[in-house]
Amino acid sequence: MKVEDVKIVGVLGAGTMGNGIAQVCAQAGFEVVMRDIDKKFTDRGMESIKASLSRFVKKGKISQEEMDEILARIKPTTDMKDIADADLVIEAVVENMDVKKSVIKELNDIVKNQSAIFASNTSTLSITEMAAVSRSPEKFVGIHFMNPVPVMRGVEIVKGLLTDDDTLNFAVEFVRKLGKEPVVCKDSAGFISNRILMPWINEGIYVLYEGIATKEEIDKGMKLFTNVPMGPLELADLIGLDIVLSAIETLHRELGDKYRPCPLLKQMVSAGLLGRKTGKGFYDYS
Ligand code: 3HC
Repeated sequence: MKVEDVKIVGVLGAGTMGNGIAQVCAQAGFEVVMRDIDKKFTDRGMESIKASLSRFVKKGKISQEEMDEILARIKPTTDMKDIADADLVIEAVVENMDVKKSVIKELNDIVKNQSAIFASNTSTLSITEMAAVSRSPEKFVGIHFMNPVPVMRGVEIVKGLLTDDDTLNFAVEFVRKLGKEPVVCKDSAGFISNRILMPWINEGIYVLYEGIATKEEIDKGMKLFTNVPMGPLELADLIGLDIVLSAIETLHRELGDKYRPCPLLKQMVSAGLLGRKTGKGFYDYS
């Protein structure tokens, strides 16, 4: 499969990552089918895409006409069968291996193009394990976008144990076609990005939990000390505390005790304080 052969991209999941991926694919000229299990999720996804594109229009980066064309290329759906004509499918469903395996098994029977590439946007889970249930493990690859997808340039390309070179090269070229910069690594829990980022965020939460500094001082300090755009607690709120917890738990399970999740993170997730998406996390967004 060559990038020029891709007409339709299927995106599974219309959440923060799914709708961002659908948007950047449509911006690059691909027809996109964005599928989620309930219309309220696809509606919310389309609203996020409109809000993001409107920011580009306001900044003069795209015209209103281009925005309308991009939106017209995205078909929201709740029917998995609408993915049948996709040449590339990127799954961005919940970070749960069983759920991911079950949607991949569905794709095996539904997607007509036997050369189609299947990709996962997982943050930390094993690409090799997901590939094992796909119909062609050599055509399965990790394409891991960063949040917020429309503005972040780096995309991690993850080579599963059986991913072949053609598929890896395809993923690299596809990401370039989106105007983004690919970074390649092997399949290992958390890849490059979250193996390094998640313990940084988790440690920021420990510093708060242990009463060493206030949340404001922690975030202000890390921005001033290391020139990052967001401190660990603000970034956790942007990513979603449930996603952070699931990522750090995977690292803990796979790589050992130094990744132990902070008890405060667990409590906040139990309390439903998930960050920006629920209006409250370390900070209040209401
Ligand atoms: N759509 C379109 N444009 C957007 C946008 C969106 N969703 N979000 C931000 N922007 C644009 C703004 O319009 C603005 O454009 P301009 O430069 O032309 O004026 C620009 O991005 C900067 O936005 P803001 O001025 O609102 O705010 P900031 O300057 O604070 O930038 C940020 C916001 C881009 C989110 C920046 O704070 C940042 O880069 N933060 C770090 C993000 C990060 O680390 N992401 C990775 C998380 S890890 C991950 O995703 C992996 C996963 O597996 C967990």
